Amino acid sequence: MIFDTHAHYDDEQFASDRNTLLSKLPEKGIGKIINVGASIATTKTTLALAGRYDPIYAAVGVHPGDIADLNEESFLWLRQQTRQKKVVAVGEIGLDYYWEKDPSIQETQRRWFRRQMHLAKDAGLPVIIHSRDAAADTMQIISDAGSWSPSADGCGVIHCYSYSAEQALRYIKLGYYIGVGGVVTFKNAKKLKETVQAIPLSRILLETDCPYMAPEPYRGKRNESSYLPYVAEKIAEIKEISPSEVEKATWENAMRLFSRAVT
Ligand code: NI
Repeated sequence: MIFDTHAHYDDEQFASDRNTLLSKLPEKGIGKIINVGASIATTKTTLALAGRYDPIYAAVGVHPGDIADLNEESFLWLRQQTRQKKVVAVGEIGLDYYWEKDPSIQETQRRWFRRQMHLAKDAGLPVIIHSRDAAADTMQIISDAGSWSPSADGCGVIHCYSYSAEQALRYIKLGYYIGVGGVVTFKNAKKLKETVQAIPLSRILLETDCPYMAPEPYRGKRNESSYLPYVAEKIAEIKEISPSEVEKATWENAMRLFSRAVT
């Protein structure tokens, strides 16, 4: 079975066939899914999905692009949600200097990233981190937050990993996993392929980030968890092992990291 550690099935791109699609995933080998909140609104829709579908778990958090949602009141609400039964992580949280060039807003991103890291720490939950063009500041904030080992084996995952192999090894040293999705199947994804080669299989998580980031041969189309075998195949090819070894190891990795609430 495959564990999709990062999906957005509450996205409007699934509005017309969400129920049919989600009900068919188990027979396609998708055992568990974490639906990830990115704003206050999508944290609510994420919680609703987790309540409705057995294989779906929830991550609650606000993405750096949506921090305008955050204030003391909404932050308190977020804190309350970390206690819900199927909440397995705080995310997606982090920094995005690719889309945000304004230094004062970048500072605000760092402030809310720090606070959400502490929220996770207080709740004993791992974090799901979005980090783009901000490798050094991300490193600084996660090392300042320290280790709290929610699962005795890791504090979180750097999702949709886009930095170098050397940087990945530094994140791993701090107790983080590396999220790998459709990008690894792209022809021009040289850096990510090098990263997959350099890091241990025990630190890789499979993720779709659907509806985005569909792997080849579906690149540019709407993504879904049942395309993850293409990602597993590519990782297997790079690491010269079988796709089933990749599926088994990444399943176990996710079960270990999100062990507080995934059953
Ligand atoms: Ni995402």
